[in-house]
Amino acid sequence: MSQVLTKLHIKTYGCQMNEYDSDKMVDVLRACENMVQTDKPEEADIILFNTCSIREKAEEKVFSDLGRARVLKQANPRLLIGVGGCVASQEGEAIIKRAPYVDVVFGPQTLHRLPQLIAARRESGKPQVDISFPEIEKFDHVPAAQTTHGTAFVSIMEGCSKYCTFCVVPYTRGEEMSRPYADVMREVESLIAQGVGEITLLGQNVNAYQGETDDGDTVDFAFLLQTVAALPGVQRLRYTTSHPREMSQRLIDLYATTPKLASHLHLPVQSGSDRILAAMKRGYTALEYKSIVRKLRAARPEISITSDFIVGFPGETDADFEATMKLIDDVAFDASFSFIFSARPGTPAAEMADDTPYETKLARLHRLQARIAELGQQVSEAMSGTVQRVVVENISRKSEHELAGRTANNRVVNFVGSPGMLGRYVDVRILSGTLHTLRGELVMEP
Ligand code: SAM
Ligand code: F3S
Repeated sequence: MSQVLTKLHIKTYGCQMNEYDSDKMVDVLRACENMVQTDKPEEADIILFNTCSIREKAEEKVFSDLGRARVLKQANPRLLIGVGGCVASQEGEAIIKRAPYVDVVFGPQTLHRLPQLIAARRESGKPQVDISFPEIEKFDHVPAAQTTHGTAFVSIMEGCSKYCTFCVVPYTRGEEMSRPYADVMREVESLIAQGVGEITLLGQNVNAYQGETDDGDTVDFAFLLQTVAALPGVQRLRYTTSHPREMSQRLIDLYATTPKLASHLHLPVQSGSDRILAAMKRGYTALEYKSIVRKLRAARPEISITSDFIVGFPGETDADFEATMKLIDDVAFDASFSFIFSARPGTPAAEMADDTPYETKLARLHRLQARIAELGQQVSEAMSGTVQRVVVENISRKSEHELAGRTANNRVVNFVGSPGMLGRYVDVRILSGTLHTLRGELVMEP
């Protein structure tokens, strides 16, 4: 290991998968360089951009941030600039053409090769590009996860093979590829040994998981959840994201039999119009989606359902949008990530006729968001007076005497407590709440 202290700055765009990958970049670099992280790009020796190409805006932001890094490099020619993630995967060499001061370009599947890419850049003086898909190799080369917060993400699969017509993920992250079952269990057990109580299983479509076992069988997602939940150190279990088409009855039944499963499910629906759902190639109707939710609520009445929506998909009419608004009321979603459709080069939807004016799309988005905010506010208000078990994640941002904990239904609660409680589970009585932040008081430490 080099004795020179290297300062690393990482800027992460986009989804939780990218957040996870950024942590892994730190882990692989720390394993071979004497490394500290800095949040000040102007102090850094290495700046990495872990990029997102899901919408055009996210992609353009990367190039404007790169322009700023270029200025830093003019002042410090030893600064090394790397671009990873989905924009890297999609653009490859084109990034070097557009920004010749970039030193390394790597994809979500080659981040474990960062040390070699950086070494090759230093030795050859030439920019290095590796955006190949060596598939599961990535999982084999990433150092074991370390954590200090009491909660942790464990990646169980990579990529997506659903090919929704609007989405770049299958092209940037590759086909669905599950991590072997024993590897996942080993990582979970190591996290528990470090004091982690809350595990979130992570992937683009976790419920499509098909993990190979040591004796050559495969196990599905319901089996994986059951065995993780059975580990004594696990207090609470979450997963994200799942696809409605893969919500098997066995998976739904676990909400009745497995109290450790959090009462929250993020289940992207995208639209309430069957015509649009078909054009998106989602593989379910609004009625089928509602039927899944009905079964989930039969198994776990208090479950909170959150979702993703796209408004203004090509050809979406007022009637289609009203069908989405009706679905929102029927399901009573608790929160959402909602976006205006962004045409992504290379996807089928980018070729579809789209004559809805942008102002109409924006007005639809605002209406949808306002309605879901109302529904979420009702849930927060109904929680007032109840006692919730929370995992203490941080010191509150507002006051150093307060802690921030997370409820089972994914809300942050601020309450007075001591830093010694960080990472522990405590019971908190909810006093009041706005949309996604609640105030509470400590009841007891279990
Ligand atoms: N299973 C994935 C998840 O939620 O993590 C879905 C993939 S994507 C990373 C997350 C969300 O981005 C999608 O559910 C969709 O609502 C949105 N999205 C994807 N492509 C989009 C596009 N071209 N325009 C607008 N929104 C898009
Ligand atoms: Fe994208 Fe659809 Fe997969 S939204 S990540 S192609 S399930």
